[in-house]
Amino acid sequence: MIPESTNGSVRAAYNAVAASYARVLPDTSFEGLLDVEGVDLSEAMIAQARISHPRRRFKTGDLAALPYPDARFRGVLAWYSVIHTPPEHVPDIVTELARVTGPGAHVLLGCHAGTGQRAVDRAYGHDVALTVCLHDPADTARLLTRNGFTIAAQLTRQPRSNETHAQAFILARRTGQPPRGRDPRASDARPNRPLP
Ligand SMILES: C[S@@+](CC[C@H](N)C(=O)[O-])C[C@H]1O[C@@H](n2cnc3c(N)ncnc32)[C@H](O)[C@@H]1O
Repeated sequence: MIPESTNGSVRAAYNAVAASYARVLPDTSFEGLLDVEGVDLSEAMIAQARISHPRRRFKTGDLAALPYPDARFRGVLAWYSVIHTPPEHVPDIVTELARVTGPGAHVLLGCHAGTGQRAVDRAYGHDVALTVCLHDPADTARLLTRNGFTIAAQLTRQPRSNETHAQAFILARRTGQPPRGRDPRASDARPNRPLP
């Protein structure tokens, strides 16, 4: 379970920046193509999503305790969704991704690659502090594999001029069940330490 001390500060930060975020990073690319629905910790981010995509369904919720039944989805886009989650809590999220996806479903995950964390003082142009957690792509891929996914594609690219860290993208396909006899949440990930 992700502690409320972590989720509460992420929720408050995105509640404050949601309108700016929706303006700067609009996304209508999936409109009309797929039957999609979304979940987010922040009520304000969900409110913005409902304004931008009035025909879609959105819920507030925690990725580590998804408000959906087992095998509900054929695909999950976790796009920069774990970037505020310390690595020791990513296993809780991956367990949920495994639970809500059916056989053959894909998960596409994007995040900042590396180890440690970075403090942001002014998020999205507001006086709002956020902690960005970096994730080791190999650890994340291993977690997915342990939870019944096969890695279909994995890319880590160098940072662009406006980025401070490499970016990692993992496409995984649900090909099996989490193995029995071992806690599928087990991870080699170490708790994040602040970057020097
Ligand atoms: C960088 S934004 C990415 C938003 C969107 N996926 C996109 O690509 O524009 C990170 C989002 O993840 C949400 N978030 C962070 N931790 C979460 C959690 N444990 N459960 C649900 N949402 C979470 C934040 O509230 C925020 O809206």
